[in-house]
Amino acid sequence: MPEQPGRERPASGAPLRDRLASLAGEYAAFVRVAAGRPRRVGAVLPTSAWGGRALAQVVPASRPATVVELGPGTGSVSDVVHQRLAPGSTHIAIELDADMVRHLREAKPWLDVVHGDAADLRALLAEHDVGELDAVVSALPWTLMTGEQQSRVLAEVARALRPGAPFTTIVYNHGISTLQGRLFRRRLERVFDEVLLTRTVWRNMPPARTYVCRTSPAR
Ligand SMILES: C[S@@+](CC[C@H](N)C(=O)[O-])C[C@H]1O[C@@H](n2cnc3c(N)ncnc32)[C@H](O)[C@@H]1O
Repeated sequence: MPEQPGRERPASGAPLRDRLASLAGEYAAFVRVAAGRPRRVGAVLPTSAWGGRALAQVVPASRPATVVELGPGTGSVSDVVHQRLAPGSTHIAIELDADMVRHLREAKPWLDVVHGDAADLRALLAEHDVGELDAVVSALPWTLMTGEQQSRVLAEVARALRPGAPFTTIVYNHGISTLQGRLFRRRLERVFDEVLLTRTVWRNMPPARTYVCRTSPAR
C-alpha cells in the first residue's frame, strides 16, 4: 500500500463553498445507496463530523501509523481520520458495497479503498501486504449482522491489531441497552481485555457513543 500524504492535504483546507458542495454530494450519494440497500448500510445518514472525531480520537497523530477503517460508506469518518494522521501513515478503508467503493475512489483519491468484507480482514491485509495495525476504526452496521458474523469480524480485528492497539466503533444510544446491544458488548468483552464506552455525542444524528477496546499489550 502506498503511504498517505497525511496532513499535507487536509480535507478542511478547501474554501467553505467547495466543502459544502462536497458534503452535499456525499450526503446524496449516501442516501441513494442507503435507500436502495438498507439491509447493508444500516443508517439513513452518514456519521457527523462530531461522531467522526469521537471515533478518530484513538488514531495515533504524532507518528506514522497504519490504520484501517471498516465500513467507510461515503467517507465522512475517513475525512476526520485523514486529517488526524501523521505524514507517512497508511489509511486503508474496507467497504463491501460496490457503489460506495466507486464513490470513495472518485471523491477521496488519497484513501486506499479495498472492496471486501470486514470478516475477511486479515486475508485482505495479507493480499495488500499490510502488517500489524496501529488502530481500527469502524462504523459497521452491527445490528444487521448475526452474532456469529459479529464475533468473526471482532476476532479478525483483534488478531490484526498490534497488542494494546485500539479498536473503536460507533453505536447508537437507543440500541446500547437492548438485548442485541448487550449481547454485542458481551462479544466485545470476549475478544478484548478492555472495553470502554465513551460519552454521548449528542450532535450526531441519532445520538451515539463509541466503544474503545484493546487487547492487553502483554498477551
Ligand atoms: C452505517 S454505514 C457507515 C458509513 C460511514 N462510515 C459513516 O459513518 O457515515 C455502514 C457501512 O458499512 C458497509 N458495510 C456493511 N457491512 C460490511 C462488511 N461486512 N464489510 C465492510 N463494509 C461493510 C456498508 O456498505 C456501509 O457503507
